[in-house]
Amino acid sequence: MSDAIAKTAQKAGTTAVQRCIVPACAAVFGIREQIYVCPRCGGPLEIEIPLELLKAVPDLRERWRARAASHDPRDRSGVWRYRELLPFDDDAPVVTLFEGNTPLYDAPRSAKYAGLTALRLKHQGCNPTASFKDTGMTTAVTQAKLLGARTVVCASTGNTAASLAAYAARAELQCAILLPQGQISPAKLAQSMDYGAIICEIAGNFDDCMRLISELADVPSIYIANSVNPFRIEGQKTVAFELLAQCDWRVPDHVVVPGGNMGNSSALGKGFDEMRRLGLIDRLPKISIIQAEGSAPLAHLFAGLKSPQIAEDAAFPDEIAPVGNPHTLATAIKIGAPVSWKKALRAVLRTHGNIITVTEQEIADAKAIIGRDGIGCEPASATTVAGIRKLAAAGKIHAGESVFAVLTGHVLKDPDYVSNYHRGTLSFETVTEQGAAKSVPIVGAFRNAPEKVAATKEAILKSLESRR
Ligand code: F0G
Repeated sequence: MSDAIAKTAQKAGTTAVQRCIVPACAAVFGIREQIYVCPRCGGPLEIEIPLELLKAVPDLRERWRARAASHDPRDRSGVWRYRELLPFDDDAPVVTLFEGNTPLYDAPRSAKYAGLTALRLKHQGCNPTASFKDTGMTTAVTQAKLLGARTVVCASTGNTAASLAAYAARAELQCAILLPQGQISPAKLAQSMDYGAIICEIAGNFDDCMRLISELADVPSIYIANSVNPFRIEGQKTVAFELLAQCDWRVPDHVVVPGGNMGNSSALGKGFDEMRRLGLIDRLPKISIIQAEGSAPLAHLFAGLKSPQIAEDAAFPDEIAPVGNPHTLATAIKIGAPVSWKKALRAVLRTHGNIITVTEQEIADAKAIIGRDGIGCEPASATTVAGIRKLAAAGKIHAGESVFAVLTGHVLKDPDYVSNYHRGTLSFETVTEQGAAKSVPIVGAFRNAPEKVAATKEAILKSLESRR
């Protein structure tokens, strides 16, 4: 063990450190070392917070509740309110857009559709740039400032880019984003343009962009803000704290999230686990991940696990078979080689959750039924309700259990999809067994197309009558 690693290992337990999650390695690194994967074994890193020390702090929950009424910018942020659990000193140059503080909605129509008595939706699309990415970007960009980075970069299917671009603008840092050309919703791209990012459209898919990003990791002036970066996860884990606070600390039975690059599921897993280890909750919710059928490497891996592996998380696969040509209309999660799959799988195994796939048709109809609850989300977010319906039908979620879905992005992130669904013009490309391209139409169960109505009172009343 090198001197530096040995010294940092000694500090573990008394101060936050970065630790490799591979049990056989578990190397420890200082909190201000600019690394993204373990320099020793290449494994994923995570931040270890000195929880033992925090156990001595009285009334943490009360302290957090009181902060919600304060005007200190750090208290107004739904992330920095929980700063005892963040790896930053009190004088950190916090870059915030007052992220978090997102609503938790009852969704009775979606519940009925899914076969449940009740369903609650945590709408992370109500963040400043309209996706859940903001809760992680506030901490990642604050760390970039601390490290003295000149440029922040990310690969993205659109939302990470929009979020990073906004936080970089607040921090007056240069921002460069790598996007798969022609595969990003125009609304997301428009956000990044407005926030002044340098936009590099790459001839390739998201996984190609991610590979290029990892090649930039050794440039000291460049800081990577993808969720491989453990400081992103630290901000995103606070969603678990906020959700628990909104439930008066009653632990949900199930928390269900979409899966793409797997940062979100990893972060929620970490957040709930820290609350349990602190003694603020006494059990963990089951965390389940839903993937789109055409972009589902982790669901495939999970389906292939043997039940003893599922029962005890000791037996952990080393490799994941990537999906070479991922496809889904839910472009946010069109990802074939998720970087954070190990952390996400660990969260699911630890909590006895599930990882399953849903079809394009199921995603589209689930999105529309969420809309009927008066709650708009983007397609990737709707995988949750589609997945919950499937898990309920399979007896893996029971009708009376408390079930929470995390909606990750706002409905206006992808207006073309919405409009095409309701007008009956949505379709997706697939490949026949003979290898030919084939377009499959989505026939929406909840279509709601506009109709042309004459400019008279009678015509309007007739239209209302016909739709009763
Ligand atoms: N939902 C939305 C709306 C997303 O934008 C993403 C990921 C996910 C779900 C999946 O979350 O990657 O943490 O498993 N979007 C990334 C991006 C990849 O670049 O915006 P994950």
